[in-house]
Amino acid sequence: MRIAIINGPNLNLLGTREPGIYGSQTFETFLEELRRSHAEVEISYFQSNVEGELVNYIQQCRLNVDAIILNAAAYTHTSIAIADAVKAISVPVIEVHISNVFAREQERHSSLLSAACVGSITGLGLNGYSLALKHFKENLL
Ligand code: DQA
Repeated sequence: MRIAIINGPNLNLLGTREPGIYGSQTFETFLEELRRSHAEVEISYFQSNVEGELVNYIQQCRLNVDAIILNAAAYTHTSIAIADAVKAISVPVIEVHISNVFAREQERHSSLLSAACVGSITGLGLNGYSLALKHFKENLL
């Protein structure tokens, strides 16, 4: 099974970025653990701060992965282009947010992506990615 994890802008700074909100673990450390505990799953990882690069990567995924875990970060709330890319592919996508976006500023309460995704996980920290992976393992195999 091949899963792509895609992170949007500023998530490359996890570990030092607003640790009170996003925690102090780097994504690289988390990913190492995730790969170790799910050795049978091929997990690819892509992060970009650039909207078009995220669109390009999502499009590429339609040819070579079984499922996508997507944290589009701030683009969640603004990007019609990323929402269109998710709608354009038949690969199932779970939307993840580390923080509870509904407990934060009003502008974070809406997602242009949710309707195009299988489901959304918000506020469970990095564990959200693990839970999304667990869902795909249980439902795609
Ligand atoms: C985020 C929430 C977004 O509102 C924010 O812009 C992010 C990260 C999260 O994972 O909690 O960059 O997607």
